[in-house]
Amino acid sequence: MNDKKWIIAGLLLFTVVVLSPVLWNAFKTPTPPEPVLSAKAKAAGYCVLAKDQMKAGHMQILDVWRDAVVRQGERVYKSTNGKEFNMSLSSGENSCIGCHTSKVEFCDKCHNYTSVRPYCWDCHNAPKEAM
Ligand code: HEC
Ligand code: HEC
Ligand code: HEC
Repeated sequence: MNDKKWIIAGLLLFTVVVLSPVLWNAFKTPTPPEPVLSAKAKAAGYCVLAKDQMKAGHMQILDVWRDAVVRQGERVYKSTNGKEFNMSLSSGENSCIGCHTSKVEFCDKCHNYTSVRPYCWDCHNAPKEAM
């Protein structure tokens, strides 16, 4: 019958429309964040602990540092890698932001991706941005 080609075309169109979310997801992969190391961090070449330990545990380290500074009055952290760090979130050499000099290009890259919003910056000064 003459309607046959319209029925087939209709069925094809229907299939494409129904599958469109699946097709969309298959071709659109989310891009994971790429935190950018500052020139300073690159030059140093090391962090407080090994990279995987930092990735998983930097929040706990910051908690330990805060308690050591505020409750015990200690400000120097001796790492197992033999280096000394200034137990500070954002002030001075060898603090987190002292070395990772761009919060936006480093910390925020991951936090935005994972929708984490550390409230630390409500009180602590966000640093002047620098790479
Ligand atoms: C002396 C410079 C220096 C200081 C101080 C420092 N970092 Fe790092 N950090 C680095 C370097 C260099 C790397 C990359 C290490 C590697 O690739 O092995 C790194 C890696 C990291 C990573 C992993 C990044 C990734 O791509 O997985 C996190 C998270 C991190 N640092 C957070 C911190 C925090 C939080 C502090 C303070 C508690 C801190 N860093 C202090 C230099 C520093
Ligand atoms: C490699 C990715 C990555 C980088 C780089 C990174 N973070 Fe994080 N950060 C995370 C993730 C993921 C969490 C949430 C972890 C969780 O909830 O278990 C987090 C959580 C935190 C928390 C705890 C927040 C809360 O509300 O519990 C603090 C504080 C923090 N990050 C500080 C920093 C600082 C400061 C830097 C930059 C020096 C930094 N992070 C860089 C991935 C990263
Ligand atoms: C309500 C305000 C407030 C908030 C929010 C806050 N802090 Fe602090 N923090 C302080 C004050 C005040 C000190 C004491 C400053 C000093 O003695 O140098 C301090 C000290 C610290 C120190 C040691 C000193 C230094 O220079 O950094 C660390 C580390 C620290 N805080 C980490 C954090 C982290 C990580 C967060 C978020 C998870 C956070 N703080 C949120 C007020 C705050």
